[in-house]
Amino acid sequence: MADKDDVKEGKEFHINSPQKNKPFFLKGSGALDWGMQNRLAQIFNPKSGRTVMLAFDHGYFQGPTTGIERIDINIIPLIPYADVLMCTRGALRSVIPAHTNKPIVLRCSAGQSILTELSNETVAVDIEDTIRLNAAAMAAQVYIGAEYEHKSIANIIKLIDTGTRYGIPTLAVTGVGADMNRDLRYFSLATRMCAEIGAHYIKSYYFEPGFEKVVAACPVPIVIAGGKKLPEIEALEMAYMAIDQGAAGVDMGRNIFQSDSPIGMIQAVGLVVHKKEKPKHAFDFYKDIKADENNS
Ligand code: 5RP
Repeated sequence: MADKDDVKEGKEFHINSPQKNKPFFLKGSGALDWGMQNRLAQIFNPKSGRTVMLAFDHGYFQGPTTGIERIDINIIPLIPYADVLMCTRGALRSVIPAHTNKPIVLRCSAGQSILTELSNETVAVDIEDTIRLNAAAMAAQVYIGAEYEHKSIANIIKLIDTGTRYGIPTLAVTGVGADMNRDLRYFSLATRMCAEIGAHYIKSYYFEPGFEKVVAACPVPIVIAGGKKLPEIEALEMAYMAIDQGAAGVDMGRNIFQSDSPIGMIQAVGLVVHKKEKPKHAFDFYKDIKADENNS
């Protein structure tokens, strides 16, 4: 029962200390509502301002690709080392333990396969299910210059509009069609379009030269995809260069789960992303973890 007896009057109001009003730490996100900022602050570490997203949504159009044949066996051991999990609702419901405390970025587009035209996607998750799954953000591909460019832009607009209604941010994933050059011209166009359309953060690929110009011209944070599997040292160098040029983190899949030590690799990536460790140092760390695994 509420106790009305002995209610103490307030005494110390710190009259001479104005309430602090710190700006929100994330680029371009200062005018967002509290729920939106709170979800973004789950995705991006407020100390470093960056994130290591572990992407394992590839099955939605590629099936059981190498390294994620068994999400229960391949991915669950990596969860403690990821800042964020990016996956489909099918993987989430069927395999990921509900007690995980990592924010979920939900893959919300689908509708094609590697056997057909990749840009032909549709919105594949209703906002109600996104809320039901307690997702921190929604993600969909935007295929600028591809056959179904307009459809993919319409998909992201739908996610942004419905997500805004409920304080759920949207990640726009710049999907690159087979005929497109991964260069400054392409990514400055694609990322800027996504930001202007209202996406809260954007996934790009790293490329040289000019990546820093893409970051500069994009008013919201950019994270990089890992892309196809590279030797570990090269993937770490790529992550380092992206961070050094202003990326707010990685959304990495194959370069982690296809590594011969995924646990070593995700931690090494974390060192580069959050502490800006030099790639060589992070690579040595990865090798130590791998050696320990082989000796145990
Ligand atoms: C699939 C995706 C992936 O999540 C993204 O490409 C990251 O994975 P990888 O590092 O393997 O490229 O968006 O469409």
